[in-house]
Amino acid sequence: MSSQRKKINLKRITRRSAIGILGTGIPSGIWAAGIEPNLLSVTRKELTLPRWPKALDGFRIAQLTDIHYRPGSDDKLIAKLLKALARENPDLIAVTGDFVVKNPSSLPELCRKLKGISAPHGVIASPGNHDRWHCSTLQLRNEIEGAGMTYLQNAGTNLHVKGENIFINGLDSIWGGRPDPGKAWKGHRKNDPVISLVHEPDPFDELHLSQKLDLQLSGHTHGGQCRVPVIDYSPVKVKFGRKFIYGHFKKGDSQLFVGRGLGTVGFRVRFACAPELVILTLRAS
Ligand SMILES: [Fe+2]
Repeated sequence: MSSQRKKINLKRITRRSAIGILGTGIPSGIWAAGIEPNLLSVTRKELTLPRWPKALDGFRIAQLTDIHYRPGSDDKLIAKLLKALARENPDLIAVTGDFVVKNPSSLPELCRKLKGISAPHGVIASPGNHDRWHCSTLQLRNEIEGAGMTYLQNAGTNLHVKGENIFINGLDSIWGGRPDPGKAWKGHRKNDPVISLVHEPDPFDELHLSQKLDLQLSGHTHGGQCRVPVIDYSPVKVKFGRKFIYGHFKKGDSQLFVGRGLGTVGFRVRFACAPELVILTLRAS
């Protein structure tokens, strides 16, 4: 092939590639920045837990995580979330941290909106790394409890449901706080099932070995926030969220569910990874 023909071919390829990138890149960018961050998806999943009491078969938990509230931009999404929660009517609502992005003054505004959510067995929340980086523990406790939620930071509580006891705890953020499983599991009675709210998912590896743990609920990764469609791959990894990025995992008698969250960090973009409300139905084996 002459060098002249090679040059022409190279020009064509380069031009075609540029058109291809612009052709798919611009609509994808508009979608990722302007549309998908405002879409709410509802993921419904049944988890069969080996040690879950038969009397509690069918217990439903709504998990919200990583709201990262940005006043103004996220208001429509929050309104959709509140409507969906009311429609789903779960037994319990679990909020696994990262209420804020950077601005601690967004916390009271978000908590005012979340005042509207309720469930027969309550709304339980634990902190995320962004909450612990940007808000004091006192502020988190005051605002979150002021909105009617139970705030668990290295602490647990017992729920009495249909004659059974469920121990629910919240571990402090691994990255932004001072996690203390000894404190978080204090008050747990040996045979009672445990649901643990742990913002970062990767400690599941150690926690399932060191503690009684039936179900860990986590977020933190945002499911990658932008995923590669078709192969469903997340190129972005985050500290303490490299191993379990999204979905359901099992180890021994313990299970983990990692939600992809509602909000965003960095640019307000999501791609192939829409904001998510998770509804888990727990089944006895
Ligand atoms: Fe987050």
